[in-house]
Amino acid sequence: MESRKSMGNIILIGFMGCGKSSVGLKLSYRMRQTILDTDKEIERKEQCTISEIFAKEGETAFRDKETAYLQSLVGKVNHQIVSTGGGLPMREENRKLLKEIGTVVYLRVKPETVYERLKNDTTRPLLQGDDPMQKIRDLLGKRSPVYEAAADIIVDVDNKSFDSIIAEITEAIQ
Ligand code: S3P
Repeated sequence: MESRKSMGNIILIGFMGCGKSSVGLKLSYRMRQTILDTDKEIERKEQCTISEIFAKEGETAFRDKETAYLQSLVGKVNHQIVSTGGGLPMREENRKLLKEIGTVVYLRVKPETVYERLKNDTTRPLLQGDDPMQKIRDLLGKRSPVYEAAADIIVDVDNKSFDSIIAEITEAIQ
């Protein structure tokens, strides 16, 4: 396990809207490491959007695609930043795979911040419909302990600049 982690991969986990993709991009510039985004890779492979996969095949099929994609990374990538979909760490199997792939960084965010960032978003199937704030609170409440258990490093992101988030991550992984 340790030898695999020394391959230098950094995996970003956290709730929708916590900034995994944007923090990941900035981190990739800073660390001079390329970035992979599990959602984008799945969309590219399937040639359709996450919303279309949820609508046509259902959430379980999407979760299976996440697991298959993670399996394809084990032992195959190094010095890579990996940004993950918000629900990916919920499967125990995925949490084991994440640990095998690299150092897991949880970007912890408050529900109010998620709501402000995503209140007009139409691309997250799990937050559509009535009362998105309640949906965010419920889902984040259930997921928080799982994210925390999956993480090697936890960074609180509310009201912080990208620079300070990146600085915290780079300090913690040294
Ligand atoms: C999901 C988060 C989304 C995407 C899908 C499901 C979730 O990714 O994988 O809509 O279950 O939290 P982001 O976290 O990048 O929004």
